[in-house]
Amino acid sequence: MKGTFPLQQFHKLRTPFYYYDTALLRQTLDTIRTEASRYENYAVHYAVKANANPKLLTIIRESGLGADCVSGGEIRAAVKAGFPAGKIVFAGVGKADWEIELALDYDIFCFNVESVPELEVIEQLAAAKGKTARVAFRINPDVGAHTHANITTGLAENKFGISMQDMDRVIDRCMGMEHVQFIGLHFHIGSQILDMGDFVALCNRINELQDRLEARHIRIGHINVGGGLGIDYGHPNRQPVPDFKTYFATYASRLRLRPGQTLHFELGRSVVGQCGSLISRVLYVKQGVNKQFAILDAGMTDLIRPALYQAVHKIENLSSEAPTETYDVVGPVCESSDVFGKGVTLNGTKRGDFIALRSAGAYGEIMASSYNCRELPKGYTSDEFI
Ligand code: LLP
Repeated sequence: MKGTFPLQQFHKLRTPFYYYDTALLRQTLDTIRTEASRYENYAVHYAVKANANPKLLTIIRESGLGADCVSGGEIRAAVKAGFPAGKIVFAGVGKADWEIELALDYDIFCFNVESVPELEVIEQLAAAKGKTARVAFRINPDVGAHTHANITTGLAENKFGISMQDMDRVIDRCMGMEHVQFIGLHFHIGSQILDMGDFVALCNRINELQDRLEARHIRIGHINVGGGLGIDYGHPNRQPVPDFKTYFATYASRLRLRPGQTLHFELGRSVVGQCGSLISRVLYVKQGVNKQFAILDAGMTDLIRPALYQAVHKIENLSSEAPTETYDVVGPVCESSDVFGKGVTLNGTKRGDFIALRSAGAYGEIMASSYNCRELPKGYTSDEFI
């Protein structure tokens, strides 16, 4: 089954471009709100890194989510879209001084701190402004997620976070500081996770660490479990809204929160992934030695996930109902890795046909580059076509 798209409207536009189905985005956000509100202590943040398109950010902010930012630029984008500073968290293994100062000036909710040297700089910069920064420590839980090696983050070998052995030492260091206030622990084990067992492993680890804190009579108000819930790239229409019910329930049943604690989530892909498609036109169909190529006007500069992670996005010919044939679907960029899919089954394809690369709402437009001096793709929402 193909997705439904306003093809008539597409004819007026220059390709390639991103197309966002805002009805699906709103449905996804409604589901998150409904499922999260079953638990009085859940706070959901949107991971801006997945897609910072201002039109999407506004819709997401309107739904009441907070924002998870990893750079000064993302903090600015979130504030511009109207996210209240009190709902912004700031993560990242290498925060520059100006980014920390910006976050202090906005008085954001919390810094997710990844090392002692970073903590020291935050203390210094906060002191200079006469402010106190709320901090959570990002602990590397050494839990492997069953996902692509490039997007696991919670293993001891990854650059992220503070090791569990160092946790007590870092907390002690923080207690002696005047301009930082230790309020919680932060975790993130990876992305595109579909096996709830991975989140259960994280819960078990957090339970152990909380026991350790309790033994030291240290109380914290906030646990942040990051993001990571995956989407169905193979069948974007089968369950376009991810199973937030099971995801939230997994944490509710496995994590032993202490009274008064808030549980924070930082969801990116699961919020925006399925609502976006990269729309492209076929430039040429070229006969190869033992195969045929469909050469698109979109390339790896517009959607880098297949080249970078061997990610598979469903490809559909929106203009054709002709009998199916097999194609290698490639872009125009001068790199042999500029391939969207090999041996892809498409309805008989010709020059000018519209091709959709589905499930591209997350880490698509935002990761686009202008390599080969190509123009960055524009993003349109379905609202604009009514
Ligand atoms: N929180 C932290 C600390 C993160 O590092 C990430 C993603 C998230 C939350 C959001 O994770 P999500 O819910 O989207 O899985 N470019 C890659 C994905 C990189 C993910 C980086 N961190 C891709 O295209 O698959």
